[in-house]
Amino acid sequence: MNTPRAPEEESEKAAERRKAELPIWGPVGAAMAGAVGYFLHGVASGDPLANAIVLWTRFTPAKKAPKKAFLVRWLLWIQEPNRKERKRELTGKATAAEEFDFTVKVDVSGLQPGTRYAYRFECGQAKSPEGEFRLPLPATEPMATLSYAVFSCANRGFGNFRAYAAAVERSRELSAPLDFWLHLGDYIYEYGDTRYPAPSETVVPGLKPSEELVHLQQYRQRHAHYRLDPELQRLSASAPMISIWDDHEVANDDFKDGAENHHSETQGAFEARKLAALRAYHEWLPTRVEFDLTNMSAAPWLRWRRFDFGSLAMLLMLETRLLARTSQAATEQSVRAEIAAVLNGAWALSPSAWPGRIEKKMRKVQSAVEAKRLDPRKRMLGDTQLAWIAAQAKAEGRPGRWLLVGQPQVVQELMSPNFQDLPRGTSPHWADIVRNLTKRGALYRNYTTGDEGEADFVFSELRNAFLVDLAAGRFRIQLNFDSWTGYVAERRLFLQSLRGPTPAIVYGGDSHNAWAGILRADNKTVAVEFDGMSVTSPGLESRRPFLPPGLEAAAWQAANPDLAWADTSWRGFMLVQLGLDNHRLEYMAVDASTPSRGTSEGTSCLAGFDVGRDLQLSGPKSCRTASWSAAAFGGIEPSMPSWRLLSWPWPWVPLALLASLTALVGFLLGRRSSSGSSSSRLFGSRPGGYKRPSEEAEADGLQASVVLFSVFSISVPPCSRPFTEPLSLPLRPLKETRRWASSRWAEAAPRSAGSAGQQERQESARRLLEDIVGVVSSAGIEAGAVRGLQALRATLLTAVEAAQSDELREALQALQGLSRGEPVEDAPLARLLRRLFQRLGSTYVKLGQFIAPAASAGRRCRCRKTLALRSSPTLFPAAYVREFQCLGSGCERLEAMLEERAGTPIVIRVVTQQTGGDGLEHSELA
Ligand SMILES: [Fe+2]
Repeated sequence: MNTPRAPEEESEKAAERRKAELPIWGPVGAAMAGAVGYFLHGVASGDPLANAIVLWTRFTPAKKAPKKAFLVRWLLWIQEPNRKERKRELTGKATAAEEFDFTVKVDVSGLQPGTRYAYRFECGQAKSPEGEFRLPLPATEPMATLSYAVFSCANRGFGNFRAYAAAVERSRELSAPLDFWLHLGDYIYEYGDTRYPAPSETVVPGLKPSEELVHLQQYRQRHAHYRLDPELQRLSASAPMISIWDDHEVANDDFKDGAENHHSETQGAFEARKLAALRAYHEWLPTRVEFDLTNMSAAPWLRWRRFDFGSLAMLLMLETRLLARTSQAATEQSVRAEIAAVLNGAWALSPSAWPGRIEKKMRKVQSAVEAKRLDPRKRMLGDTQLAWIAAQAKAEGRPGRWLLVGQPQVVQELMSPNFQDLPRGTSPHWADIVRNLTKRGALYRNYTTGDEGEADFVFSELRNAFLVDLAAGRFRIQLNFDSWTGYVAERRLFLQSLRGPTPAIVYGGDSHNAWAGILRADNKTVAVEFDGMSVTSPGLESRRPFLPPGLEAAAWQAANPDLAWADTSWRGFMLVQLGLDNHRLEYMAVDASTPSRGTSEGTSCLAGFDVGRDLQLSGPKSCRTASWSAAAFGGIEPSMPSWRLLSWPWPWVPLALLASLTALVGFLLGRRSSSGSSSSRLFGSRPGGYKRPSEEAEADGLQASVVLFSVFSISVPPCSRPFTEPLSLPLRPLKETRRWASSRWAEAAPRSAGSAGQQERQESARRLLEDIVGVVSSAGIEAGAVRGLQALRATLLTAVEAAQSDELREALQALQGLSRGEPVEDAPLARLLRRLFQRLGSTYVKLGQFIAPAASAGRRCRCRKTLALRSSPTLFPAAYVREFQCLGSGCERLEAMLEERAGTPIVIRVVTQQTGGDGLEHSELA
């Protein structure tokens, strides 16, 4: 076990750092020279009552300070905006003693309700920064508005504490200074610097102490390390804090008698660790301590608390961890292992192909999990606290008030999403993502970082974990047992206790993501819940980085009808403006990867919500001021509301562009190209020109259309990008397209008839492209215009016809898959293309023969004209060849068209004959 360093050692370095870095300390720095110590950790106030407040600071003794205790003076002024002279209201003395890690707490009473105060500490020449607070009014007096922010989960290593400072900025901009701020837990994390975050994930290095926290001095040192953060200090100085712990203030997933992250054999008794952690918590946070810190074993050290804000609201802060909570019904790891055991042997299968035995076993796992979750012996609040909550809500709740409840966990019964059963409009995207994850070699994109790479690198780990997620959602197996979802019986009692005349708003944290939804008891709405994203700790985006945030949110909403909105991708906080008739909450997002440097750049409002006194939740809405919208986000776009993202009509964009391009090319193409062109050779036309110029123009127009179609198909991004970048598709850089196209070509090479065949195909393609350029340059206008319009009409008619069946949907799915570079089912697209060709006319039948030169073998046709066609190798995939071999219906249509043009009955028979080793095939049209 590592020995923690003395606080003095850390303080000396911190002092140097503070002098250089912290702007709030700059003016005082000079005055500190020669002082016996410093106020390095700022000031804070907390637990406000109508006439009392807890003031906090920490005095850091200078090196070699001989004393074990220092006398610290505190001073307090009334802070009125229009008051030029500040009159000292109160002053007093307190002790900064080594016994309490030199922290100072003063519970100042006898103050004037509703008054704004400023305060400061002094010790010798050293002066602390100033803090301020406004006291609430007593419950009997009217109060019109309240402004506050809600935070949770601040892991130092994962990022900067920008959320803290952003709350100050935002409230100032709204001219609504914070009345208080809530911290719903995980204010610190207990892990060492090699775990959560791992070194490779660490954004802010230098965690102190570097080892995991077990003993009092270690917890103190971690608190001190966090408190050096200037953004936390800024928020602490601006308004009172009201806090309750979650698990990481002690150890991960803790409960009354233990924790997931506690190992008695090496870390000693859990009780000792718990009391050490709680003592450090109370020493370093501005909580009201009405018990003996030196005798922590004599509980209660902190109970549930109530705060009144005039007649407007009362706030209940609940304790859900260490007073009454029983151990979790199960652990996510254990249930995931059970699911994995069922899937073992089926990892290579797509979920849609899971055999029946898997479903049977999954149902068993689900039943067992439900039995554990429903166990009434699993408690979280305990009877005493439950009774207290019910009493507050019923007896002391008054009409016209709001009941605010702060507690650490998510109360909503969030069921794992069933990604395979998403609402209409999302499933095509989902199908693509599943394909990406269930087939090797597919392109992978991390939606958090934007990085792309081959899925093989992360394939097994990602795919197997994701298949477990899939199974959990599909078979409704709950994975979260540490939140309220693991304490079902107690949850029901808790929600019943909220019933009363006062509309209730519940705040939660812990999940690191944002959730807004309705809470019901016995099918009646009893509260609206808002759970905030973390200050820095990573959310679901780190677990499933391959899923677009909009899809993730949509999946959760689909699985949980009472969930109104979710965001799984941002860090930040919740900002509330409470009025008599309206509760306005805004989800504020921050870019925690960089420090704020005193600006609001990189901060944005994701969504706003209103709740009326009837508990009607409306939103997401736009935010109150435009300057905090996406435009002020410093180039970082916030998550879009899920449905707007997912309902983007992506497939229609390329389709419309394709139709437009076809029309344009047809318009540009002229009567005929020069005789003997490569296109003529390719299509087997006679040297010296054609007898029917318009047909030749059609053939050239056709080539252009097909080649453009092909170029367009391969030029869309070969990854799952269309969720976020639909309009960038046609603008994709050419070099990327070329690289992708060449890789596709290389993939196809092994299937070719050999290098000679490949060269033939390349040569054909080259000649086609040359023709397009030549034809376009020599084209006339009239025939091209007519043909272009005909082509557009045919395209639209085919699309409409296909839309009436499933053909269009299938083809679009295939097109999307193709655009991502996935192996896709070619048949739907080939079928649609064949139908289009049939409608486009006779020239296209000739192209059909180019696509499927063996097409007409065995058909009953009499031919007078012989066409020499390349039979093998072909440029086109097998499905296209097969489809165009079935131009039987096209034969009838061709007959009809030719009859129409010739004015006489015509019977077509195509006869093909393989001529042998030269690869040439001779067909006859009669
Ligand atoms: Fe957390």
